[in-house]
Amino acid sequence: MPSSKTGVLVIGSGAREHALAWKLQQSPSVDHVFIAPGNGSTDFDIPKSVDVNDASSIRSFCVARGISLVVVGPENPLCKGLVDEIEAGNADGKEILVFGPPKAGAQLEGSKKFSKQFMKEHGLPTADFEDFKSVNEAKAFIERVNWPSYVLKADGLAAGKGVIIVDGVAEAKNVAERMLGGEFGAASAEIVIEEKLEGYEVSALCFTDGKTISRMPFSQDHKPLLEGDRGPNTGGMGVIAPLVLPSNVEAEIDQILKNTIAALAKSNIPYKGCLYAGFMVTPKGCKLLEFNVRFGDPETEVIMPLLDSDLYTICAACCRGTLSSVQVNWKSENVVGIVLASEGYPVKPIVGRKVEGVPEHSSETVVFHAGTKRTEQGLVTSGGRVFCVVSIGNSFQEARSHALAVSEQVKFEGKYYRKDIGHFLFSRGNVSYSASGVDIAEGNALVASIKDVCLSTRTPGTDSIGGFGALVDLEKEGFKKPQLVIGMDGVGTKIAVAEATGLYDNLGYDLVGMCVNDVLCHCARPVAFLDYYVTGHLVKEEAASVIRSVAKACKESGCALVGGETAEMPGVYHKGQWDVAGCCIGAREKSWPMLPLTESVTPGDVLLALPSNGLHSNGFSLVRKIVSDNGVSYKDPAPWNPLVSIGEELLRPTKLYVKSVLGVLKSGKVKAIAHITGGGITENLPRVFPPHVAAEIECGSWSIPEVFDWLHSNGPVSPPEMLKTFNCGVGLILVVDPKNQESVTDSLLSNGESAIYKIGSCIKKTAKDEVVYKNLENTFKYRFVKSKAKKVNVGILISGAGSNMKKLIEKSLFPKSNCSVRVVISNKADAGGIAIARSYGIETVVVPSVGEREEYEAIMTKELEKRGIDLICLAGFMRILTASFVNRWEGRIINIHPSLLPSFKGAHAVQLALEAKVKIAGCTAHVVDVEVDSGAIIAQEAVPVYDNDTEETLHERIKVKEHAVFAEAMELMAQKLLEKSA
Ligand SMILES: *[C@@H]1O[C@H](CO)[C@@H](O)[C@H](O)[C@H]1NC(C)=O
Ligand SMILES: *[C@@H]1O[C@H](CO)[C@@H](O)[C@H](O)[C@H]1NC(C)=O
Ligand SMILES: *[C@@H]1O[C@H](CO)[C@@H](O)[C@H](O)[C@H]1NC(C)=O
Repeated sequence: MPSSKTGVLVIGSGAREHALAWKLQQSPSVDHVFIAPGNGSTDFDIPKSVDVNDASSIRSFCVARGISLVVVGPENPLCKGLVDEIEAGNADGKEILVFGPPKAGAQLEGSKKFSKQFMKEHGLPTADFEDFKSVNEAKAFIERVNWPSYVLKADGLAAGKGVIIVDGVAEAKNVAERMLGGEFGAASAEIVIEEKLEGYEVSALCFTDGKTISRMPFSQDHKPLLEGDRGPNTGGMGVIAPLVLPSNVEAEIDQILKNTIAALAKSNIPYKGCLYAGFMVTPKGCKLLEFNVRFGDPETEVIMPLLDSDLYTICAACCRGTLSSVQVNWKSENVVGIVLASEGYPVKPIVGRKVEGVPEHSSETVVFHAGTKRTEQGLVTSGGRVFCVVSIGNSFQEARSHALAVSEQVKFEGKYYRKDIGHFLFSRGNVSYSASGVDIAEGNALVASIKDVCLSTRTPGTDSIGGFGALVDLEKEGFKKPQLVIGMDGVGTKIAVAEATGLYDNLGYDLVGMCVNDVLCHCARPVAFLDYYVTGHLVKEEAASVIRSVAKACKESGCALVGGETAEMPGVYHKGQWDVAGCCIGAREKSWPMLPLTESVTPGDVLLALPSNGLHSNGFSLVRKIVSDNGVSYKDPAPWNPLVSIGEELLRPTKLYVKSVLGVLKSGKVKAIAHITGGGITENLPRVFPPHVAAEIECGSWSIPEVFDWLHSNGPVSPPEMLKTFNCGVGLILVVDPKNQESVTDSLLSNGESAIYKIGSCIKKTAKDEVVYKNLENTFKYRFVKSKAKKVNVGILISGAGSNMKKLIEKSLFPKSNCSVRVVISNKADAGGIAIARSYGIETVVVPSVGEREEYEAIMTKELEKRGIDLICLAGFMRILTASFVNRWEGRIINIHPSLLPSFKGAHAVQLALEAKVKIAGCTAHVVDVEVDSGAIIAQEAVPVYDNDTEETLHERIKVKEHAVFAEAMELMAQKLLEKSA
């Protein structure tokens, strides 16, 4: 930290500049923040002597007032080269750092045409476009491309308003004529016409020094004037941050930002400051909509309160090219910004109205000034957007309610603001952000469109569809000596989830996915598909939506939908009950490898995993149980992706692998391929192994979609059970000789797969397990276990495999549990229970039981105290505890004993029960006191003894009861302890 403080000058007058100045003022290096030309806020000094259009007036003010940093807010001065002009004086004057790109870099925003061409030239993904000066050429282009919707942009700066979106050719031609005719003056003398992309918009802002980038949290603004996203577009009526995006989308955006900076450097375009990229997240990936060369407004107002680092240091590092050495941290809170607009905005805002009731800044809420001005009558409105009211909170709901309260409090005539900012985070209502949403039209039009979609799947060999059956001409399909591979499947109880959410759009796609992926495993190309749809009462829209998605998937996997059956069977199926099944006919050349080459699979072969797209079509019975046990609604936003509901996440369509995989199968470099469906890796992978081979899987070696983490922790479902029920992120596994690993991987990547994971290898089978999982604890993360309720901290002591411990942990993971298992202590370093505890994300400690009992017990007590343990469960802990330990934890240690106490205390309880020839044995959960097995009884359960019972069989049956009784006892004790402490 420099010992002498410095001043900062912010150029601009909006809420964005107010927010930047507000944040800069908090810097320990800054003693004075000026803003010019400024607005009606009294937070900062507004120097009258500074002419913001004149670099020399800015320089002399900076020199006079000890200012070392100028931050330029708006785009206009940047595009005119203000940064270059101020910096030009650095050569033989005082060094002044200027945050913002020079003129050459500012073209990215200054000229839409330059920016689009830059994107095209450097392979940055964006919509198709063309630019025009001539009305006739523009009209001819619009007719020729015949897109459903168009975006027309004025080439020059039009204060964020020179963009018009229209549907249809006629309207587009009309608007092109108006724009080129001078609607936006000189700015629209040239226009860019591009295709409108479908999806949702995201703003990504980053700090950059031209070499590295540091991305800020994502935000989303609300452009339409009216609630429910209706009405004309504005500069932004409100904004929320952070916006959590799916991790793959986030990674894609970061890569595009990096590529952009690299492209700028490669083109020798100097750039520093803030780069703002607007994206459309579409089903085909993220596409750039535009670049801005400065902070966004209103995005900045919600991003600055989240910044947990010193803005001055960051800005200075961007100017000096040292950004990579600065740590930029963000708070994990939620921010909502609401814009208070003037009457008449955005067309003709009425200004000059008196403002009252603006509160002081508080720790929750800051009111940033935008269009305000100080006059002799006090504060008045002077623009369309008057204030941005920004609140921070632990949840969006909390932040929004603060912001709404203050928005109400601020008074001026004609004030208007949207009360639904962030609405899509709270309720899904009518606004669908689903990127793959299909607009379902009515009745016959729909059926006709399905016919077209079906016809569009035809291939050369399936050209003549019709009649009673379908003809497939394999010769025309290009096969010389064809063999057929036929597979059939359904979508299981995924239907029930679709039913509960009303989202049928992807079920047909799933159906095809399940079948074609099966056929692919035998190195065959799907050629034809037939579907069967049955219902108690035919609802055209629902049936059509399913069939349409069957056709879509057929087309994507290159197979023809040659026929099908839609059956209405009232009485057999109830009204509203339905099912769907399908059959895929695949063909293969006799000379292609006949997969699986089971006999050739040997220890040492590597296992390559292809990512799945989510659950695909398996495990839905368990999914439904988890959803209902947790009281979750399918319409709730997914905790990991609030733009999408849990239902939509669960229903993500099955991934199709034909296009990316078939080629490498034909090459002969793959020995076998397993489609990971119901039964998970555990049951599907061994299907392609010879008897002497097993798989060793390294857990954590592949990326697991969040939905599985969520199911895991909300079930709770143990990792082994997860791997036996769901695909857990792995759609296909290829078995490959290590010498072919690289070329197979390269081929898959170049054919469109996004990632290939080496997840393990084949080993010689020694135990009965056909799949051996290593480091199970690395499989899942625990990001979705959260509860605010007060819980009793539980410590578990073990010595062995920990089967009782596992049940205690699982019980504690139920949302309604009053227990939180904080630590598992084992007296043996090799106890099997340690890995199990870790697989649930629970801390483990080994305290070897060597030396004096008092000594190691003292260590255990310390470990337990350190974690605030209130209750200790002995789960197969094989050591006697001293009286002093028991007294230290009096009434807080519980144990489970395999007899109906007070009968058969001590060791060998089961044996003693058998010898005594009792008819009823059982188990008892009790409080541990100084005497052996004599403390207060918490719960008991009886187990019948059979004539044919051995100690082993009886103990086995008792253990099953123990699991339930002990877990129940733990909860009972916890509830008592909570009541006592309350
Ligand atoms: C959705 O929009 C329709 C038509 O605009 C309206 O009738 C309906 O009430 C809206 N539903 C919700 C949940 O807002
Ligand atoms: C936790 O305690 C509350 C109130 O004390 C009780 O209603 C609830 O049933 C307890 N939970 C369990 C799983 O026993
Ligand atoms: C033992 O006896 C019980 C009850 O008579 C019977 O259900 C069970 O099948 C028997 N088990 C064996 C292994 O014979």
